Amino acid sequence: MISIAFFNNKGGVGKTSLVYHTAWMFAELGHSVLAVDLDPQSNLSIMALDVERLESFWPDNGHPKTLQGALDPLFGGTGDVRPAHIEPVSDRFGLIVGDLALSRIEDDLSTEWPRCLEGRERAFRVTSAFWRIIREAAARHEARLVLIDVGPNLGAINRAALVASSHVVMPVVPDLFSLQGLKNLGPALRKWRTTWTKALEQRPPGIDDLPAGSMTPVGYVLMLHAERLGRSTMAYAKWEKRLPSTYRESVLEKPGETVGESDPHQISRIRHYRSLMPMAMESRKPMFLLTPADGAIGAHQSHVQQCYGDFERLAREIARRVGLEG
Ligand SMILES: Nc1ncnc2c1ncn2[C@@H]1O[C@H](COP(=O)(O)OP(=O)(O)O)[C@@H](O)[C@H]1O
Ligand SMILES: [Mg+2]
Repeated sequence: MISIAFFNNKGGVGKTSLVYHTAWMFAELGHSVLAVDLDPQSNLSIMALDVERLESFWPDNGHPKTLQGALDPLFGGTGDVRPAHIEPVSDRFGLIVGDLALSRIEDDLSTEWPRCLEGRERAFRVTSAFWRIIREAAARHEARLVLIDVGPNLGAINRAALVASSHVVMPVVPDLFSLQGLKNLGPALRKWRTTWTKALEQRPPGIDDLPAGSMTPVGYVLMLHAERLGRSTMAYAKWEKRLPSTYRESVLEKPGETVGESDPHQISRIRHYRSLMPMAMESRKPMFLLTPADGAIGAHQSHVQQCYGDFERLAREIARRVGLEG
């Protein structure tokens, strides 16, 4: 299983939109893909499902079909995790639906994390809960690829989400805050990886079913929230220039590595498709599949095609980097 977290310590950079569109694109390209909404804000679920369907997942008397439902027996102290419902979004794209109630397990995850180093059984069960749910669901969905959406913080939920991730893709906007986000992210990932590796040496007998927690950085995706005439505006150009070195220093700890004209750590670029996004939200489809019937008429149609190209390049490049093909 290849599980990729889309992560930046800065909010509003386009993580959720990226997970949604990339999952659709992988499905378009013939891959079975599972997306997991691990952000308690549940924006991915809101984007993927219409409001009536969404409401059916969040009734007042318990949420058995969300991620929280799969976690309930373990965190409620009555058992272990149970299989999660997989909501079909498109032919091959399945979603594990998010839940605001997820924020309630933050404290428990936080308390149990250091206890892994003491070799305590419950600590390992709790910390690996996301991974175990995801792995079972991916097998059932026959998906080799899992995309994980998380909130913009370095809290315990995200730490457990990253432990469940074999890879990390970092969406960045060329601005000060996004660069600052990368600077926080790099050391956090290293610390989590190191601690988890040490913890694995303390695993109690009988607890063999645990993630490797490799969190391998795949690269960054440049989200161009303002692009005119095919060139970044002056303000963005300044930050864009600093991205390659910030990424190498903070995420890879390789400040001296030299690169040529194009940065090998930049996976791809996604343009800002202003009016397509509201249409996509309204039609519950990705921007690159909008038709004239959805309102994408005239010049919008060429943007739709351009958008398809952006996401196809991105998906193919991610597939190549994580070894999904072949
Ligand atoms: N390529 C894009 N074109 C147009 N709007 C975008 C694009 N990517 C993201 N957005 C918009 O930017 C805002 C933030 O995106 P979102 O995916 O919610 O970011 P995050 O998950 O990082 O907080 C949303 O309003 C979204 O619709
Ligand atoms: Mg989001």
